[in-house]
Amino acid sequence: MRVLFSIVIFSLAVIFGFAGYTRFGLPLIIPAPPPQEAKISGEMTMDQFIALGKTVYEGKGTCTLCHNSLGRAPLLEQVAQVAPERLADARYKGEAKSVEEYIHESMVKPSAYVVAGFGKKGTNDTVSPMPDVSGGAINLNAAEMAAVIAFLQDVGGVEVTAQIPTGEAAAPAAEGAAPAPAPAADAKEALVKFGCNTCHMHPLIAEGGDMGPDLAQVAATAGKRKPGMSAEQFIVESIIDPNATLAKGFEPDMMPPDFAQQMTVAEMNMIVAAILNKDAAGGKPQ
Ligand code: HEC
Ligand code: HEC
Repeated sequence: MRVLFSIVIFSLAVIFGFAGYTRFGLPLIIPAPPPQEAKISGEMTMDQFIALGKTVYEGKGTCTLCHNSLGRAPLLEQVAQVAPERLADARYKGEAKSVEEYIHESMVKPSAYVVAGFGKKGTNDTVSPMPDVSGGAINLNAAEMAAVIAFLQDVGGVEVTAQIPTGEAAAPAAEGAAPAPAPAADAKEALVKFGCNTCHMHPLIAEGGDMGPDLAQVAATAGKRKPGMSAEQFIVESIIDPNATLAKGFEPDMMPPDFAQQMTVAEMNMIVAAILNKDAAGGKPQ
């Protein structure tokens, strides 16, 4: 009986786990995806490689910070299918010849093709706001990028051509892609953990992004933005309810609306203190 019971549970886990997997972007109902080795090796099956790509895509790669249903970046379920059209487009400036190469190029030289309507403001879709994910704070290695490409090819329903890297050179991969990272130890870690740096600049971060306002400038005005709100309260509100007050020159629905569910109170306090330039050296939780 017990054996039968565990078989039933196991099959349910497999069925639901798989359903969650194939429906890209929807949260899994059964808690964790199948256990994955964080290391890429020649012994990995293609299914494991694709699953790893999904983990990198949603985790370390921070792709879903921008590529999600809020519309601040194009959805990527179809990118493998539309890639040939991108390559044939007169506006295409890159060197890719295949779907695989196009997705790779999009990750490392995003401006080689800028999807219409998604370019940096004022550049007439010639400059992409997407960071080079092989460097900066995201820093994916070649194996991780190959896994992400395999995942996007699989999701797009085209032939998966991205290869599982073999040999030691490929590992270690996807470290830091674990679904539930540890609480950040200081403000700098917290800004990176939540991907604030992919869109914002801040003095604690060497290479910030510029999809959002420079956070170094916020302290000076935060206390005057909303009557009756202190600078601190305004910053907290900006983080947990980004559309409540929009920064001048920026559009709504750009910043993820769910940081409140992800952050510990200590992490929120460290981030707010850093934005207020209090203890900007990387304050410890009080
Ligand atoms: C800070 C926001 C941001 C992050 C993080 C980000 N992207 Fe993008 N990405 C964009 C925007 C905006 C575009 C559309 C402009 C362009 O074409 O470059 C884009 C375009 C793309 C395209 C081309 C889409 C098409 O339809 O041709 C691909 C592929 C892509 N991103 C992959 C990724 C992957 C994979 C990751 C994670 C490793 C990632 N992006 C992380 C903002 C982001
Ligand atoms: C995908 C890009 C993106 C990410 C990731 C992001 N932001 Fe933003 N953020 C924006 C944009 C765009 C704005 C301007 C529009 C608005 O006010 O909502 C903004 C606005 C803000 C503001 C208000 C600035 C002002 O002067 O009104 C604060 C504070 C802020 N972000 C902090 C953060 C912090 C802290 C994080 C990480 C926990 C973060 N953001 C992550 C894009 C992003």
